[in-house]
Amino acid sequence: MNMNSANIEEIVKQVLAEMTGSASQLAVSKAAAGDIPKTAHVAMLTSLENFEVKEFPIPEVGDDDVLVKVEGCGVCGTDAHEFKRDPFGLIPVALGHEGTGEIVKMGKNVKADSAGKPLAIGDKVVTCMIFKDNPDITMYDLNKQNVGGADVYGLLPDNDPNNHLKGWFADYILVKGGSTIFNVSDLDLDSRVLIEPSAVLIHAVERAKSTGILRFNSRVVVQGCGPIGLICIAVLRTMGIENIVAVDGQEMRLGFAKEMGATGTVNFKDHKGLEELTKAVEAQFDGHPADFGFQCTGAPGGHSNIYKFIRNGGGLCELGFFVNGGDATINPHFDICSKELTMVGSWVYTLRDYATTFDFLKRAKAIGIPMSKLITHRYPLEEINEALKTNLKMEGLKIAIINK
Ligand SMILES: NC(=O)c1ccc[n+]([C@@H]2O[C@H](COP(=O)([O-])OP(=O)(O)OC[C@H]3O[C@@H](n4cnc5c(N)ncnc54)[C@H](O)[C@@H]3O)[C@@H](O)[C@H]2O)c1
Ligand SMILES: [Zn+2]
Repeated sequence: MNMNSANIEEIVKQVLAEMTGSASQLAVSKAAAGDIPKTAHVAMLTSLENFEVKEFPIPEVGDDDVLVKVEGCGVCGTDAHEFKRDPFGLIPVALGHEGTGEIVKMGKNVKADSAGKPLAIGDKVVTCMIFKDNPDITMYDLNKQNVGGADVYGLLPDNDPNNHLKGWFADYILVKGGSTIFNVSDLDLDSRVLIEPSAVLIHAVERAKSTGILRFNSRVVVQGCGPIGLICIAVLRTMGIENIVAVDGQEMRLGFAKEMGATGTVNFKDHKGLEELTKAVEAQFDGHPADFGFQCTGAPGGHSNIYKFIRNGGGLCELGFFVNGGDATINPHFDICSKELTMVGSWVYTLRDYATTFDFLKRAKAIGIPMSKLITHRYPLEEINEALKTNLKMEGLKIAIINK
């Protein structure tokens, strides 16, 4: 056989591509480094309901920084609020905080992620919050404060003339030293896009467990079947809870609840009055009230209702009000006092919950929960305005920007 040097080079490349381990890692790193363009595309919200995809130079990657090629980013309710009303006064802003991508360049000081796992070019990563040397926010103390109110990429002011790569709705993002970054190379893209909302439920279930009431054989009612309630059902299933009743007003969402692992569903619109609705929920538990409830709607009426579904001595986790949704009426005698209810609130998550979430997503996949189905719409970056409008119309569940 007559082999010229071009053939040999081709064969070597192919062998390297098929190999696993350090040689192929090197090949990836060289390829990735060679591919880095001079500019990046960033979807900037420049006025209400208007993103413009702008081109900016990719800044210098400092010794502690990581340049990430973005693969995708989920659209969050917060993005929708910003798009519609700019409540945080951030415009112009590079949004997108539920993103993930691949490391293409790293500063020389970067060796490991925030959990101590080694980091290399080609690794898939997510970010969580940006540290500000706050000793109350640590990785391994479960009792430390949650990250609500902390800075995150995708909700930062665009105030550095040399760096506009601060949000995940882009094709590149610069993760500065001091930010939390996690190596999640062992999760598929859809799972990685679902990490941030899933962390909300890992935290909520940890809060719920602190009551001591949630057990393997508990009857659990999950009220509200948006992405938050649906992921709640999935988390409960992965921890071995079998008896879950979902309540919502949309049949399509109740169908999803079954796919996530709910054993029964109730459409509240089919029942007149709270007494009848309560009976319908109990009927799904063979005539028993729930031991525990997760309130996952942002509707004050939902908060008022859920107490009735829970037994005396039961527990409740209220997590449906990320923002102020108004006041709710309850009867303190019946709902809390004579019921001896144990209630916890839950807001955002801790860094530790974030790491626990990676394991949850692996377990969910292993037991066949179809998490990917939660991502009902995928748009390329150029169609980001469309993506946000779809989110506002509440047509799907999770909307994601997936880069080509
Ligand atoms: N605690 C946190 O940190 C945190 C984080 C993210 C979101 N949230 C909150 O969680 C809530 C849910 O988020 P989502 O993305 O799933 O929202 P969503 O709007 O997609 O889902 C809410 C669901 O509740 C249903 N619903 C409304 N009123 C109801 C009622 N009376 N009874 C039963 N179902 C009813 C709706 O049909 C809808 O399917 C939001 O209000 C959000 O603010 C909290
Ligand atoms: Zn979010």
